[in-house]
Amino acid sequence: MQIIKVKNYEEMSVIASSMLVEHVQQNESPVIGLATGSTPEGLYRSLIAEYRKGAVSFQGVTTFNLDEYVGLNKDDATSYQFYMNQKLFDHIDIPEEQIHLPNGVSEELQQDCTDYESNIQKAGGIDIQVLGIGLNGHIGFNEPGTSFLSRTHAVELTASTREANSRYFSSLAEVPTQAISMGIATIMESKKILLLVSGEEKAEALYQAINSPLSEEFPATILQLHPEVTIIADELALSKVLESYDESESAFEIKELQMK
Ligand code: PGA
Repeated sequence: MQIIKVKNYEEMSVIASSMLVEHVQQNESPVIGLATGSTPEGLYRSLIAEYRKGAVSFQGVTTFNLDEYVGLNKDDATSYQFYMNQKLFDHIDIPEEQIHLPNGVSEELQQDCTDYESNIQKAGGIDIQVLGIGLNGHIGFNEPGTSFLSRTHAVELTASTREANSRYFSSLAEVPTQAISMGIATIMESKKILLLVSGEEKAEALYQAINSPLSEEFPATILQLHPEVTIIADELALSKVLESYDESESAFEIKELQMK
């Protein structure tokens, strides 16, 4: 596990973007796992800027998103498909058929979850999975208590997650109660994981993810077992980790990176 410490949200976004751009430039058919929420918005802005500069093309890229709400049509402004179109896909040259999100309005939900898994396999697996972390340690929509062996599945959202996400809806009652999420085992099969964390609000969650014993009650602890995790976190998100960090005893290194 490698931790890259950056000054702020902007630096986190630009550094994450440069890692993805480099991967896309160097591979013919890269497969990238994407996330939604506030955390990756700056990353997507930066990817669009790189595309507009002509630095990168997404023609050969295949994407798989982590999750989607159940019951929201892709044209619904609060669906993750809509978010992704608006924040990234509509502004770059990725072919539509190479974009994948779970289908939140499927009538064959179980079959679709199985197909999602096989589509990831057919694409050759995910090279780099972008992740955020929830205040309760969720990754994707894998809430506390989800099996580490889980595959793409339907999940019940916890009250705290619905509350945290209610900012995107006009009322809490409108936040769906279910979602479809890649499972934890699915996420762990990605060749590389890029976890982005920004802000003091996430300091405790990040601390627990890397220091607490492995527990399905705090799903992000599983990342301690992944051989290729890079965490890009800003100073505020790292504040709790740094309080007790001892380089000689720690299972991870913290590298400081500044934007040129
Ligand atoms: P956020 O969500 O980026 O909006 O903080 C992250 C998450 O809940 O996984």
